[in-house]
Amino acid sequence: EEDPRINGIKTKIRVVPDFPKKGIMFQDITTVLLDPKAFKDTIDLFVERYRDKNISVVAGIEARGFLFGPPIALAIGAKFVPLRKPKKLPGETIFEEYELEYGNDRLEMHVGAVEAGDRALVVDDLIATGGTLCAAINLLERVGAEVVECACVIELPELKEANLDAGESGNHDKVYQ
Ligand code: PRP
Repeated sequence: EEDPRINGIKTKIRVVPDFPKKGIMFQDITTVLLDPKAFKDTIDLFVERYRDKNISVVAGIEARGFLFGPPIALAIGAKFVPLRKPKKLPGETIFEEYELEYGNDRLEMHVGAVEAGDRALVVDDLIATGGTLCAAINLLERVGAEVVECACVIELPELKEANLDAGESGNHDKVYQ
């Protein structure tokens, strides 16, 4: 009873072994973008899920959340807000740090872009540990927004149990994997 479009999208995701380093199976969504039907199906599935949920802001995570977030925002009539890597945004920002395998990174958001009472959808291409999405959720909640859901194109199934064991919280929701 899975939507037949999902398998079509799956076949367009290119898996590149040992990129960017040995042992990583890189999930490349640029090959989805090359296929207008698969790209449209991807956006449509999200739009169908979120159009009646009163979402006022779509927050896209740099970099690949910038590919999927804006078309979803336009289709559901929400504003789009980029959550960016350090020192990219010119205005006043707030930030959240998150752990990487080695060291840490941060996401920044413009002050004033999201307001208290906004209903937010967070968009990215992929969830692995969930650390990036947690930072995004924290940023949005700090300014008083409600995070309705997180939408990712791909979930890495081998990491799911580890996340649950670690008590990973947040209502992130995979639309397909
Ligand atoms: C990837 C991916 C997510 C994040 C998921 O981005 O696009 O944003 O990792 O990992 P997590 O769930 O373990 O936090 P990456 O760090 O490669 O940054 P980029 O998109 O700027 O290349």
